[in-house]
Amino acid sequence: MNVYDSHRIAAILETLGFSAATSPKSADLVIFNTCHIREKAAEKVFSDLGRLNLIREERAAEGKDTIIGIVGCVVQAEDEEIAKRAPFVDFATGPLTYHRLPEILQKLSRKKETPIIDTEFPAESKFDFLPQNSSMGGSSFLAIQEGCNNFCTYCVVPYTRGIETSRPVDDILKEAQVLVDGGSVEINLLGQNVNSYHGEDSNGKERNLAFLLQHLAQIKGLERIRYTTSYPADIDDDLIACHRDIPHLMPYLHLPVQSGSNTILKAMNRRHTREEYLEKIAKLKNARKDLQFSSDFIVGFPGETDADFAATLDIVRQVKFCQAFSFKYSRRAGTPAALMPNQVEESIKKTRLEELQKLLFSYQLKFNKESIGKIMPVLFDIKGRHKGELIGRTPYMQNVHAELSKDYCNKIVNIKITDANVNSLSGTKEGKE
Ligand code: 5AD
Ligand code: SF4
Repeated sequence: MNVYDSHRIAAILETLGFSAATSPKSADLVIFNTCHIREKAAEKVFSDLGRLNLIREERAAEGKDTIIGIVGCVVQAEDEEIAKRAPFVDFATGPLTYHRLPEILQKLSRKKETPIIDTEFPAESKFDFLPQNSSMGGSSFLAIQEGCNNFCTYCVVPYTRGIETSRPVDDILKEAQVLVDGGSVEINLLGQNVNSYHGEDSNGKERNLAFLLQHLAQIKGLERIRYTTSYPADIDDDLIACHRDIPHLMPYLHLPVQSGSNTILKAMNRRHTREEYLEKIAKLKNARKDLQFSSDFIVGFPGETDADFAATLDIVRQVKFCQAFSFKYSRRAGTPAALMPNQVEESIKKTRLEELQKLLFSYQLKFNKESIGKIMPVLFDIKGRHKGELIGRTPYMQNVHAELSKDYCNKIVNIKITDANVNSLSGTKEGKE
């Protein structure tokens, strides 16, 4: 979501006559787009800001002005902290108000008092004020829903991104067509809880994600559709049927479970048990045999015992996730879990995370190794570090490195997989160049 927001922020700045700088030293304006989900991410912004302030001083000595701004969830949650710890910042705006950037920059040019801080939850939708979304290359993000009403007890999102709102169906379909016309063959629909999508169609009728997917699948030239991130309890039969009926829907689903223990899931205020999660996985797999799953995990949630943690390892063994993101529980001020008793010691969190990741990586490596010898359609959209190398993704979101002419960038190419490790595959193009 932050990559998407940054892309949209860059588009606003382009309309104001800015263009991308090659380094912070050559930039007249630097904006940090921030994440507040875990403490580490939130702290990073303050050290980055300190470093940038030194660059600003160097530039000032050369007679150049630098505007420094912060956008995103850290602003929403820590506006007072920003004013205290980084008073040199010119402006700070939350994730729902960055469409006001033109006004903010105008105010700054009048040298009003700084920092200008905007943490309002606005009545208007930023999507109605942003410039037209544009293709990000072969693969684009399209935000269809924002915010979350789930209030998992560890999570800041409902407080920083606000309550859940869904964009209207027609706006999304139009935007998807623009992205495809601009060269995207893949669209990744975004939302904090994307499968609770309930936007209105042109008759004012509420429609679900399945409805949207069926319509998107009819766009000529759109070959791959993904959606992320889903909430297990909101996976309904309509959506499961889409995985059976829509070949464009990629056979990879990110479905965070967070923990394998029912006691912990309850304390997390997740609306699913481990049994219900496994049942959803089985139904989805039944609808599409080649469907693979990835997930998010939190270890060391308050009160997590060895037995609870063992239940998490057990669910990993059952599902055999092809990819996963795992984190130590991070205590976030303002969330209910931060005040819970029985906070888990840091050393235990560390050991559990290592054990969990060892297991997760073993399945990920196994899955990747099984790709060797297969011919897979890979969508290339990034230049590799080595000359003549492109990086792309298989339908299962595996990264693939291949030596290919840049003419293949933003295209789907059949690649014979020759090697694999935990994080990526490599291969060569099938057939003649
Ligand atoms: N501590 C650790 N991980 C967290 N996540 C969200 N909040 C926290 C927290 N307080 C993780 C969840 C979520 C992912 C985006 O970040 O696993 O799915
Ligand atoms: Fe946070 Fe996701 Fe839970 Fe919403 S569903 S509160 S975004 S972890």
